[in-house]
Amino acid sequence: MSRILITSGPTRQYLDPVRYLTNASSGRMGKALAESALAAGHEVVIVSGPVEVQYPAGAEVIPVISTEEMLAACSEAFPNCDGMIGVAAPCDYRPRRVHEQKLSKTGDPLVLHLIETPDVVATLGSRKRADQWVVGFALETEDQRFRAIVKLEKKSCDLIVLNGPDAMNANENEVEVIDAQGQVVGELRGAKSEVASGIMQIISERLIHG
Ligand code: C5P
Repeated sequence: MSRILITSGPTRQYLDPVRYLTNASSGRMGKALAESALAAGHEVVIVSGPVEVQYPAGAEVIPVISTEEMLAACSEAFPNCDGMIGVAAPCDYRPRRVHEQKLSKTGDPLVLHLIETPDVVATLGSRKRADQWVVGFALETEDQRFRAIVKLEKKSCDLIVLNGPDAMNANENEVEVIDAQGQVVGELRGAKSEVASGIMQIISERLIHG
């Protein structure tokens, strides 16, 4: 039995008290992976941005809002986990300036200066011990396999799951699972629950020992 950290859902980066940047992620794939991991007898910790889905009762859920909070929660949880699955869609940019009061309209264009947020998977990947594993996701619209392999290397992942933009907010998914040598080791299609159990099976066979 392993203890598995799953990041799930979108994060938000506020520019004033009511407006924020975010990503289109429902948390459904994270929920499906948590259910598959629990069904396989593993312990599950989910660090999730704001979502409507209900995570399984057997999982420990740590709610967060921003990418920085997601990274902080994961940094604390990861040392006590055997591996992590990064299925969240953390917001990659934050406004350089966060206004304390709601911005009023002026009739002029509003220019936002955005800076990159930290990459949760890449940060944990760079810190993983020899006995830990990291599985990332990549959602690509062009040069899909090439870009996924570049991300796998950049983020020190052991496997990367490549899906297309049709996965967003959908009940079904079609994915390729790619290993650290760049080989496609699984092609899965169907309901997110079926795809999730296929991914968990590949993780069990390749990354979970004993
Ligand atoms: O956004 P990108 O396509 O690079 O995401 C690929 C992987 O990196 C996903 O597993 C996602 O959860 C993770 N990621 C992250 N922190 C970010 C951006 C992406 O953990 N700021």
